[in-house]
Amino acid sequence: MSEKIKKLFASIIIVLFFPNLTATADERSDYDFPEQQRQSTRGLDDSYGSFMGDKLTRAREKVRMLDDVYKTFIVLITAEYVDDPSVLPAATLTKRVFESMSRKGWNKARLLDATGTPFNPDNNPRDKFERDAIKAMISGESYFEKVEKVDGKDSLRAATSVRAVMKGCIYCHPDKKVGDLLGAISYSIRIN
Ligand code: HEC
Repeated sequence: MSEKIKKLFASIIIVLFFPNLTATADERSDYDFPEQQRQSTRGLDDSYGSFMGDKLTRAREKVRMLDDVYKTFIVLITAEYVDDPSVLPAATLTKRVFESMSRKGWNKARLLDATGTPFNPDNNPRDKFERDAIKAMISGESYFEKVEKVDGKDSLRAATSVRAVMKGCIYCHPDKKVGDLLGAISYSIRIN
């Protein structure tokens, strides 16, 4: 087994069993999702929200869990493997994970740009939900959600902000500084 693969396994075990050890307070600051969720549920129609009740609560929990998993990987991969801008970025890898999850019928997720000058135009917001979510992020929100039909099914659409949480991000996003908003992850979770 190569050293890199051994390291990756070790990181996964650390994340699974010792989640509090995996990043410094500085790195974790914007990834504390429960805090984000309390801050704002802007965009959600309240009456629809209570009608959906438990199913909506479970869908929100799924978003929180997925968001923690994806972002922990992004931070760990960047911290452990990135030492120059030519390596495969965590963003590209994470997009492959999104594709694989969606192909297997799990959730849908997209990486979005909030800077107006994305590395990859594929990351530009595509529909009204994504554009509204990015506007909310730019105005300082870190969470945005809406219940909508996706492919004919009631779904929770939620977006969480992605900031340059560590110096490693700046290798490749050099016009930004630690703490700046870079984008968002947008999720679509079926609620029935
Ligand atoms: C090794 C270079 C590299 C590093 C380090 C890096 N990125 Fe990126 N980032 C990229 C590339 C390349 C893309 C486009 C990926 C794609 O869509 O295939 C990207 C895309 C993004 C996007 C989507 C918007 C866009 O510009 O397309 C966000 C948000 C993002 N990165 C956040 C981060 C964060 C947060 C970190 C630090 C934890 C980070 N990046 C570290 C290279 C990097």
